[in-house]
Amino acid sequence: MTRILGISGSLRRGSHNTSLLCAAAEAAGPDVEFELFEGLKEVPPYDEDDDLHPRPASVARLNEAIATADAVLFATPEYNASIPGQLKNAIDWVSRPVETNVLRNKPVVVVGASTGAFGAAWAQAELRKVLAALGARVLDVELPVPHAHTRFEEGGLTDEEIRSSLADAVAALAGEIRRRQVVKALA
Ligand SMILES: Cc1cc2nc3c(=O)[nH]c(=O)nc-3n(C[C@H](O)[C@H](O)[C@H](O)COP(=O)(O)O)c2cc1C
Repeated sequence: MTRILGISGSLRRGSHNTSLLCAAAEAAGPDVEFELFEGLKEVPPYDEDDDLHPRPASVARLNEAIATADAVLFATPEYNASIPGQLKNAIDWVSRPVETNVLRNKPVVVVGASTGAFGAAWAQAELRKVLAALGARVLDVELPVPHAHTRFEEGGLTDEEIRSSLADAVAALAGEIRRRQVVKALA
């Protein structure tokens, strides 16, 4: 069984990005266990003075969720041409210590939705840059969902083209995990 963790950069109820992750969970095959991380709002502001052991429980939960996942699927909105502050804040927490951070070498895919015409494309590019800087294995998959308010009804995805692209994104992560398992078995 492959474990994929979904992290939405939006905290709001009714978030299109969280809905996108729910659709990704539905699109995943039966061999994928998809977990949606629900604790982003509880992560406190990063303060290096508080970055001691034990870490805040909310940070420890996020760290553990990423560490035990085989891969992470991020869905981010765009806030003022970048990623939401709380998502960046959470990544700053788990980025320490840099050499052994939980995202290092972790397969990740970034997707995103916005109500504008560009589908959070800048935010996705920013997030990929940050994740790559931490040593994550950022897969070459892009899925900008523009005009997000027209693509969901009662939280459910209504756009079949996006559903199919989401399935491809999840399959890319699952394929990377399988590739690694084969390499490990042969080593
Ligand atoms: C503070 C803030 C800044 C935003 N900035 C952008 C932006 O730069 N580009 C864009 O396309 N949409 C922007 N939006 C609109 C978001 O795309 C829209 O609110 C979207 O639904 C957020 O994602 P969610 O539904 O997952 O919460 C902004 C929204 C907020 C609240």
